[in-house]
Amino acid sequence: MQYGTIIIKNSICNVKRALTEYFSSVVESGNVFVLIRNEYDCNYDIGNDFFDVIEYGEENGFAYVNTIVVPTKDKIEAELPDNVLYIVWFVKDRKRQFFNKDAIRESHIWKDVEWGKREKNYNPKGKDPGNVWIPTKDDGKGKITEHILMELPDIVQRLFVATHRSGCKTLFISDISEDKTICNEDMQFACIQKEKRQYSKHRQPVYAVDKSELDCKEKLFAKIIWGTSENMSEIADETVDLVVTSPPYWDLKDYFKKGQIGQESYPEYLDRMYKVWSECYAKLSQNGSMWVNINIRVKNSKPILLPKDFIRQCKKIGFYYKSVLIWHKSSGIPTHDKNIVDRHEYILVFSKSPKLALNDKIYSFSDYKNKTVNGGLFWNINRKAGSVGKHFIHPAIYPNDLVTRIVEITTDKRQNVLDPFLGSGTTLIASVLAERNCYGYEYNEGFRNLISDRIQNEIGLMPYCNIKI
Ligand SMILES: C[S@@+](CC[C@H](N)C(=O)[O-])C[C@H]1O[C@@H](n2cnc3c(N)ncnc32)[C@H](O)[C@@H]1O
Repeated sequence: MQYGTIIIKNSICNVKRALTEYFSSVVESGNVFVLIRNEYDCNYDIGNDFFDVIEYGEENGFAYVNTIVVPTKDKIEAELPDNVLYIVWFVKDRKRQFFNKDAIRESHIWKDVEWGKREKNYNPKGKDPGNVWIPTKDDGKGKITEHILMELPDIVQRLFVATHRSGCKTLFISDISEDKTICNEDMQFACIQKEKRQYSKHRQPVYAVDKSELDCKEKLFAKIIWGTSENMSEIADETVDLVVTSPPYWDLKDYFKKGQIGQESYPEYLDRMYKVWSECYAKLSQNGSMWVNINIRVKNSKPILLPKDFIRQCKKIGFYYKSVLIWHKSSGIPTHDKNIVDRHEYILVFSKSPKLALNDKIYSFSDYKNKTVNGGLFWNINRKAGSVGKHFIHPAIYPNDLVTRIVEITTDKRQNVLDPFLGSGTTLIASVLAERNCYGYEYNEGFRNLISDRIQNEIGLMPYCNIKI
């Protein structure tokens, strides 16, 4: 039997088996959707993740298209409660792929924001669907009144309508026989039961040490070191409490200086990144953690799994791989006809000790008008339009709010933050405003004026802070 679409919901191990077993059962224009959760071991470290599935699918003849993320009702009890369902989307042959985007378009409640008044950019059938599936209700005037949690039947139905055509059946393989009721007459069902997993008792997270008794009259400092972060000998070992950064992608953006990381061959790039992560590890205190903002890079239609390579490197260095946060951005650049819009990036979370030190502010963010969605791994943070100003030239700035959150949940006032790729200075600004010290490495001194301008505009006069740029 050949299928137009296969939807597999199962453990990562069973998913891999099914991908191999069913490869020849997918028609050439067919789609495969894999529904998985990241899997944690008994120490609450991530053992298997969705990046593994992408890598496995690609190695076994499928072509990767995108990863859709959907919040779930239940949260896996890890150090950061995990409420992410990943839908990894493959096709058999990219050129022949069938995909009916019109069937899953979303209403244009944001049209004035996203498109201005330019009618020509505006598809009357609805806006391009994104890869974060949290439907909304609105007041008819562009204001969201509720975020909706999709249940499994809605998700399967959405995948079905976007890929169904007459004469082709959809196969739904689930780990639970009761899911058969989700199928319609154009679908077939198979059940592969999950292998039993043994978890030890839930371990409470360690909270960051309360340093409120520290002498707060001590001056704050922020120091920029102009040079490569492959060697950070200017900082004493074990004196940094948090590393937060967005590294240069390989072969994507030019930061205008010869010798920068990102312009060499991929193996050389990885060697250099390994040095940076090793230095970060050495500088971190035992309670310290590292948060890395990154995404999968697609080049010539092929995914380059930067996150997976960083995870491998960091584990080899000795880091514990704790979590993957979803940075959900409401804006996104429309893609081609056979794909959906990217509206998220990842933040990989590593700790130096087996336990991740966090304080309970982690539970205080409420980005969504739905209590069940809040308190998990979805953070909806938008870049403020124009917040950094037109005359600033840096091609890849992340939002202050994203860094502020990370700083506030992992450190106390007067503790030390490090960004090995400071860029336009976001980490420094967010850290100083939150009364943390900050070290930043930046290779291109050409960003000095940009950072000074930002300090002036966003921090202003801070007599209690000694900023060395
Ligand atoms: C993605 S950007 C960081 C942007 C930053 N998060 C912000 O909000 O402005 C990466 C930065 O790494 C810098 N960079 C590249 N190679 C470097 C190296 N060897 N050492 C330190 N910085 C480097 C680039 O110049 C660029 O500014």
